[in-house]
Amino acid sequence: MKTLYGLLLLLLVGTAACGGGETGSSASPATAGPTPEEKMLAEGKGIGEVKFVELKTPLETERVTRGKAIYDMKCAACHKLDDKRVVGPGWKEVTVRRKPEWIMNMVTNVEMMLDKDEEAQKLLQLCLTRMPNQNVSIGDARDVLEFMRSNDGEK
Ligand code: HEC
Repeated sequence: MKTLYGLLLLLLVGTAACGGGETGSSASPATAGPTPEEKMLAEGKGIGEVKFVELKTPLETERVTRGKAIYDMKCAACHKLDDKRVVGPGWKEVTVRRKPEWIMNMVTNVEMMLDKDEEAQKLLQLCLTRMPNQNVSIGDARDVLEFMRSNDGEK
């Protein structure tokens, strides 16, 4: 993620340097800086409606229970809870690898994630299957995230 952000900065500096020739003309807002989407991507939050997730400690046990039920119904066919890849990656340490916003955007906005997010694209190259849109609401995705935290040993 650091490298991505650095790249973005480099790009920005590059743009500013190029614009320097045109004296008097002010930069258009479109080139003034990264868009909110670009910022989210650069920060490793992915792309989608989920901009900020508040995690609580201890875990919210009702969410864990609901999240497990959603997992059993909609995710277990492709995702194991250990580190073994089946169709998709195993979920062990997914909450360490990814920011909570990234995970929730991946679950609720998978098409755009696979089109725009570099990390999601790397997974696609590895798995060679596009995760289908499971029609998961933001609330349900939040519950699954809590179940993932529990699977990763958080209390
Ligand atoms: C038909 C198979 C399939 C189903 C069902 C499925 N996924 Fe996926 N999932 C994938 C694949 C494949 C990937 C890797 C990205 C890609 O290739 O599209 C993935 C990637 C992910 C990732 C990123 C994992 C990582 O290591 O960063 C998350 C999080 C995820 N899925 C969550 C879910 C959730 C939550 C559900 C259930 C609501 C679900 N998936 C259902 C196939 C599936």
